[in-house]
Amino acid sequence: MKPTRRAFIQAAGAVLGASVTDTSIRGEVPQATGAAQQPFAAPPIPEVRIGYVGVGGMGSAHVRNLLRIPGARLAAVCDIVEERVKLAQDWTVKAGQPRPAGYSRGPRDFERMCETEELDLVYTATPWEWHVPVCVAAMKNGKHAATEVPAAMTLDDCWALVEHAEKHKKHCVMMENCNYDRMEMMVFNMVRKGMFGEILHGEGGYLHDLRSVKFSSRGEGLWRRAWAMKHNANLYPTHGLGPIANCMDINRGDRFDYLVSMSSPSRGLQQYAQEHFPADAPQRSEKFVLGDVNVSLIKTAKGRTIYVSHDTNLPRPYSRIHLVQGTRGLFQGYPDRVYVEGRSKEHQWDVAQTYLEEFEHPLWTDLSRKAEGAGHGGMDFIEDYRLIKCLRDGLPTDMNVYDAAALSAVVHLTERSNARRSAPVDFPDFTRGRWKTTPPWEIVRA
Ligand SMILES: NC(=O)c1ccc[n+]([C@@H]2O[C@H](COP(=O)([O-])OP(=O)(O)OC[C@H]3O[C@@H](n4cnc5c(N)ncnc54)[C@H](O)[C@@H]3O)[C@@H](O)[C@H]2O)c1
Repeated sequence: MKPTRRAFIQAAGAVLGASVTDTSIRGEVPQATGAAQQPFAAPPIPEVRIGYVGVGGMGSAHVRNLLRIPGARLAAVCDIVEERVKLAQDWTVKAGQPRPAGYSRGPRDFERMCETEELDLVYTATPWEWHVPVCVAAMKNGKHAATEVPAAMTLDDCWALVEHAEKHKKHCVMMENCNYDRMEMMVFNMVRKGMFGEILHGEGGYLHDLRSVKFSSRGEGLWRRAWAMKHNANLYPTHGLGPIANCMDINRGDRFDYLVSMSSPSRGLQQYAQEHFPADAPQRSEKFVLGDVNVSLIKTAKGRTIYVSHDTNLPRPYSRIHLVQGTRGLFQGYPDRVYVEGRSKEHQWDVAQTYLEEFEHPLWTDLSRKAEGAGHGGMDFIEDYRLIKCLRDGLPTDMNVYDAAALSAVVHLTERSNARRSAPVDFPDFTRGRWKTTPPWEIVRA
């Protein structure tokens, strides 16, 4: 017997332990008109008052960036660890701003912050499970929201972000810093200039040996390993996928249509525990379900193909792959190289750096000096700068809530496909048809 659509969705919901909602129907209510749709923009905010939630490794980097960005003021800080709040308050005072209000009365104290403080933006770099509760609390209380990646880990939560952003008319931005890396931006600029012809295929991933981080007794070790015990999926798709999505105008002329996914066996974390912990350590009896290498293929509505992988439990050097290929040539990262038909020597790569003089993205030309020394080679500063700039000038943000949902949905959908012998699974259309008429992301300047 052919399973019904609802039975299928219920089975998938059971896999991820998510609440069961028919997410395909949920997205089909308002229809898009045929007219071009400008992405959402809010009235300009001359001084952006920020409440920051979660000032650990990544949150600290963002806070330090924000304290250097004109028009940004850190008005409140929240973390379950009081010392982290104090540290951020001290940095703020040292930067010449008034001491921000502090919130550290437990894991839901961000709600009190959102209810109490006059803020324009609530920005979070908490563990994954807290992104949606923080963003929703922010939007419900009339604040824009920004979150670290992935924005959400289930389809229901992706929809929750979309629905709250629409209902409360607020931005909800997923802060994908890799969209702003120098090579990614150069490639985007080259795509816009037609250097690679029509873009047909892309590859990206997150290939990073995180074994010691996952087993650390601090920072991500406190929460990230737990996800590997419960979920067999691409748990962290957005770094590799974000820049590819931009080159393919995802949600702005094309969209993710469906994916298939499969994972290798799970060995790396078990083996690491055996080799690094004493015989009686509880870590040695932990069981993991996350396949060490997850590979997935996404088909877009326009028929383009994307390979996306997740590989964080095995010994290996870092890579995000970063391949963008069209009818006239391609870029491939790690190491960065370019081939352009008619320009490169036949069948030979050019070193990508040699293209920077001609194709550097104007944002990097404008901001590279200011970004020097900031996290991840400067890209983190540029993404924070752009967020504040868009809010101050009343512009649409570079990435919007539909991008947050579409990119984050990969987590749930890869788990679903994986659990069903790699069966194809559809992406919801979070834009409800507006992807057809939303204009592409322009080449923006600082
Ligand atoms: N974009 C990037 O390059 C990048 C790099 C690292 C981490 N991240 C992302 O940043 C987020 C945080 O990662 P991290 O490495 O900073 O982790 P972390 O563990 O170092 O920091 C998390 C912080 O959140 C605090 N926290 C936890 N629960 C909280 C709650 N309910 N309310 C308030 N504070 C809470 C913790 O005390 C800690 O200070 C994750 O989403 C991760 O994926 C992104």
